[in-house]
Amino acid sequence: MSATAIAYPNIALIKYWGKRDEQLSLPATGSLSLTLDIAPTRTTVTLAPEADEDVATWRGRPMLDRELARIRSFLELVRGLAGSRTPAVVDTGNEIPTGAGLASSASGFAALAAAASTAYGLELSRRDLSRLARRGSGSAARSVFGGLVEWYAGDDATSYAEPLPAQGLNLALVVAVLDPGRKAVGSREAMRRTAATSPFYGAWVQSVPSELTQMRTAITRADFTAVGELAESNALRMHATMLGAVPPVRYWTGGTVAALDLVAQLREDGIEAYATIDAGPNVKVLCRPQDAAAVADRFAAAFAGLDLLISGSGPGVRVEEAR
Ligand code: PMV
Repeated sequence: MSATAIAYPNIALIKYWGKRDEQLSLPATGSLSLTLDIAPTRTTVTLAPEADEDVATWRGRPMLDRELARIRSFLELVRGLAGSRTPAVVDTGNEIPTGAGLASSASGFAALAAAASTAYGLELSRRDLSRLARRGSGSAARSVFGGLVEWYAGDDATSYAEPLPAQGLNLALVVAVLDPGRKAVGSREAMRRTAATSPFYGAWVQSVPSELTQMRTAITRADFTAVGELAESNALRMHATMLGAVPPVRYWTGGTVAALDLVAQLREDGIEAYATIDAGPNVKVLCRPQDAAAVADRFAAAFAGLDLLISGSGPGVRVEEAR
């Protein structure tokens, strides 16, 4: 059996930062994101009964060490569910830089969950697929669905994502790739350190539920301004908790701060734009689709040689082929 699946990254508007249970990948709080329509991951899983162990390649290049170990332990989970001991060959590829806060682990594990569960003959509901993807990388639970998505905190059975109705709210995201390099501290380690040492972490966990409530209301009302303000504030709060860790986790560079200044300037100039930042230096700008080109132009003018990606709202994971 072989199956190929495609999944898109998502960017959280209310972030997930910190686990309640590492083993089960249960988040300390809920989170809410927008699935993008750019830079998908496509993954093929082929069962290999004659092989001794799992093999994984990244665009044809063998994956090694921690990357491979993470894929193998995920496949172990899938085999556990399927009652199989057959190894698999995984080939995966992505068009955006990885490890720079562009959420490639979200699209990666959503695609792997769909391809692997199909190849091993599991017929999972979307909800169970989201629960499975969560075990690979928390944010992957959200990439199972398209558009605006909420991922619930909870226990193993109840921590899954669901799409939110978002009538009348059209969102675009301009991604300013200030630094395509791999980040110094991975999100897993950075979350762990923040939760263990930052005196601000408790306040973060306490405040997210009400931010989620406010965000849901803003989405229901299709209130773009409220969505943007809440998203920017939530991202700044997440980074504030990290800055309080020992040693501090600081993903921001001078470019990050300059980008935040530019977003504030855009607002003063009458273009409604709001920033969000993940576990890396890059800044993503939330705006209305009709303003995206103007936002990108202003970034291109301010930062020489900057890579810019413009995204709208994208679809959930899809199995393209199963043989
Ligand atoms: O699940 P991970 O390891 O990709 O963690 C994602 C963390 C953030 O991107 C910073 C926030 C989020 O909710 O996506």
